Amino acid sequence: MDQSVNLEYPESEAASLKNLVFRQDAAPDLFLGCYLRKEEVQIDSPIPNPNPNNPNSGNTSSSSLELVGYIVSTLVSGDHLTHSSMSSHNPSGDAVCIHSVCVSTAFQRRGVATRMLKEYLQHLQRLNNNMNASTSMNKLKRVLLIAHEHTIGLYAGVGFVLIGQSSVEHGPDPWFEMVYTLDH
Ligand SMILES: CC(C)(COP(=O)(O)OP(=O)(O)OC[C@H]1O[C@@H](n2cnc3c(N)ncnc32)[C@H](O)[C@@H]1OP(=O)(O)O)[C@@H](O)C(=O)NCCC(=O)NCCS
Repeated sequence: MDQSVNLEYPESEAASLKNLVFRQDAAPDLFLGCYLRKEEVQIDSPIPNPNPNNPNSGNTSSSSLELVGYIVSTLVSGDHLTHSSMSSHNPSGDAVCIHSVCVSTAFQRRGVATRMLKEYLQHLQRLNNNMNASTSMNKLKRVLLIAHEHTIGLYAGVGFVLIGQSSVEHGPDPWFEMVYTLDH
């Protein structure tokens, strides 16, 4: 997880390592990482398929993998994100709040975020489809995030719908709330 801090947002908006660790510990099923083998981390490396959560699958140890992108979320309740709902994890929440979508600078504008988001939305739908009476989580109704104006197109491209300007203030620029509705 400490690799994630290097990929984060501008300093005024970046999550601290403490917050990232809290979010991944609280909701490990909601973390998605995109990894490359360290010897393959070159600018012309082919982009791998994003791996859900555990980078240890297969015979590659996590210490030989480099994180090139990730998505981290927690659960919240309700139709909209607020400063308060984004500050904690509600295990019985029915909405996924995406806090961070980050891609290493060297790998940006090559479709990594788009591929991670598509895989992530399918992963959430699979979680919903596989839920049964013994599952502790509630069915997930929607995925919410806040984005700056210039990244609205990125999220709209994978199916998010713009709700409008968010009440959340974090850093100098306004945030826009977007939603993706899951089948439940
Ligand atoms: C934003 C971010 C996640 C995008 O990752 P990425 O892998 O480069 O995104 P993609 O290659 O999948 O981009 C797909 C499309 O989204 C749009 N897009 C992505 N990044 C953009 C940017 N910085 N400015 C404007 N449009 C952007 C473009 O339309 C792009 O298509 P194009 O490259 O053909 O023009 C990455 O720049 C990043 O990690 N930034 C730092 C953290 C951050 O700001 N996260 C999002 C906050 S809302």
